[in-house]
Amino acid sequence: MKYMTEKQIEEARAAVPALHKMLHLNTGTKGLTAQPVIDALVRLTKQLEETEGYAGLSAVQAESLTARARLATFLGCDDSELAFTGNATESLNIALSVRWDAWGTSNNGPVDVLISDHEYPTTNMLFGYLSQIGKVNLIRFSLSEDMQKMLESLEQNFTSNTRLVVASHVDCNTGLRIDAKALCDWCRTKNIISYIDGAQAVGQFPINLHEMGCDLYISNGHKWLFGPNGVGLLYIKSGLETSLTPLCVGTGTMHFDPNGVYEGDPKWAHGAQRFELLATRPAQVFATMHAALDWYEHFGEGAIEARQRELTAQIKARLLEMPDRFRLITPLAWEEASALASFQIIGVSGAQILDFCSAQLTQKRAFIRAVPEFDAIRLSMAYYNTPEEYEILWEMLEGI
Ligand SMILES: Cc1ncc(COP(=O)(O)O)c(C=O)c1O
Repeated sequence: MKYMTEKQIEEARAAVPALHKMLHLNTGTKGLTAQPVIDALVRLTKQLEETEGYAGLSAVQAESLTARARLATFLGCDDSELAFTGNATESLNIALSVRWDAWGTSNNGPVDVLISDHEYPTTNMLFGYLSQIGKVNLIRFSLSEDMQKMLESLEQNFTSNTRLVVASHVDCNTGLRIDAKALCDWCRTKNIISYIDGAQAVGQFPINLHEMGCDLYISNGHKWLFGPNGVGLLYIKSGLETSLTPLCVGTGTMHFDPNGVYEGDPKWAHGAQRFELLATRPAQVFATMHAALDWYEHFGEGAIEARQRELTAQIKARLLEMPDRFRLITPLAWEEASALASFQIIGVSGAQILDFCSAQLTQKRAFIRAVPEFDAIRLSMAYYNTPEEYEILWEMLEGI
């Protein structure tokens, strides 16, 4: 694996403007965008808004579609299996398109959904809503980096009415990484749908969706791909799209008839793209993913991962040096974790941590993520961060 050179790290730091205005240790919420990517977004926006207006939209739309095809290659799937949405939350909402009633259960009640105990708050909101309206019955299983342990929990909670499993590829609370392929293999043996949330995974390490074998996978462009806000990714395994009901109909999702004749069966766009509304969308934001991928790739294959892995190992080691003060709650091994590390501070509650993180942002422009549910702080180790920045944090923490 190629490691980023010192010169590249310097180049990276110089190219990320926000780094010089704040202490940013929270790429898990928003990755910082490098100047060439910002420039691409501005150039495309100007092209549309300053020079060509609506007449320029189709060219930028075309660029957004080639960016999508490039992302499909990056993720190891077919272009027709990938749709752009506005963010990962919008992609998560594909759950509303599932024809839950059609799946049938032995007791004519709602279907059982196995959902992990570490899901993103909005995922809990979404499936909570599906439960409130009587579509699903939620059963929790324990998300774990230890596949054997996770399988035991899945087996214990599996019922004859289970039709879908919801799990994060990388858990947003602790950064633990699951063996997504093993989970999807298990789902296939049980004949149930795998629905994987990769919002914290894409960009952190190589992902090949065909090899993973998942049915539904969601992510975004603004975290570990360091793109602009407004890019969501939705993967639907080829063929599965016909079992889902699109909730939005408009340009892009369906074949357009200039005569306004819509008879017979609806003529949906190919594959996952029946879920991608083109209309007058901010195509420049999607097209900017070309620049984001150019930037990501110009360091060399595997270089960003190698850098983030090394930095994360250093930060974890530093936390472990202070056992009377900190308790690391993230697995140590890179293969079982990611460039996120969460830790508790002995004797400090989640509420105190939340207050501390809010105060650091307003008073010191330090962006750190609290995980109050776990009485923890979550650190992100992005390629542009340096060990010195975390030293500043340890000093700040003396005040808590
Ligand atoms: C695991 C996970 N899923 C989903 C999301 C939602 O992402 P978005 O902001 O793109 O909607 C997040 C955001 O932090 C996340 O961590």
